[in-house]
Amino acid sequence: MKQMINVALPKGRLGEKVLAIFESCGYDCPAIHETNRKLIFENLDAGVRYFWVKPSDVSIYVERGAADIGVAGKDILLEYAPDVYELYNLGIGKCRMAVAARRDFYDNTERTLRVATKFPNIAKTFYDKKGRDIDIIKLNGSIEIAPILRMSDVIVDIVETGTTLKENNLEPVETIVPISARLISNKVSYKFKNKEIVKLAESIKAYCENRDN
Ligand code: PRP
Repeated sequence: MKQMINVALPKGRLGEKVLAIFESCGYDCPAIHETNRKLIFENLDAGVRYFWVKPSDVSIYVERGAADIGVAGKDILLEYAPDVYELYNLGIGKCRMAVAARRDFYDNTERTLRVATKFPNIAKTFYDKKGRDIDIIKLNGSIEIAPILRMSDVIVDIVETGTTLKENNLEPVETIVPISARLISNKVSYKFKNKEIVKLAESIKAYCENRDN
């Protein structure tokens, strides 16, 4: 019987793109297109089982081995530092982690900087390197509101098109790191399902390189 590869896909727009890539590489799964409430799908012939999970949870499923591989944003990998292998940069889901603030923001370095973010570890590492004292305000979404209400001085957040910042009268101050989607693997699976995982990763790599040229 064919060895199945369990794949955690990030639910949402990025996940749809990722699934299309996997399907183009021969890991198709007709059942996944038939319903939109189910979360687990498999195609025994292709040797693949897909799980739709919250994008920020992909690395948890992979780290714990519930999924052999998955696709996660570099933002999540930097924030949670999961113990997984990063196999390949898919070059999709491109955006950047940035500091943003009100247009009238002036950085008074004598005061602790109040930073609102969903990514406290990324923010802390960034400001530690600068030797800047910060007070982290951990939020779970709609981060842009914090500086508008003067609850924070700046935000550390994902910027893709910049529209959200613009529409909330904020502007980017500094880029912290570019972000894109990465193919990740559980470390034990990589050893025991090596042939299958390497074959899959190589087909995905070939597909993406061909697409980029
Ligand atoms: C992300 C991010 C920004 C927005 C940036 O939010 O937190 O709010 O996208 O995209 P843009 O530069 O193209 O406008 P997300 O949709 O993940 O929602 P949330 O942060 O409120 O959870």
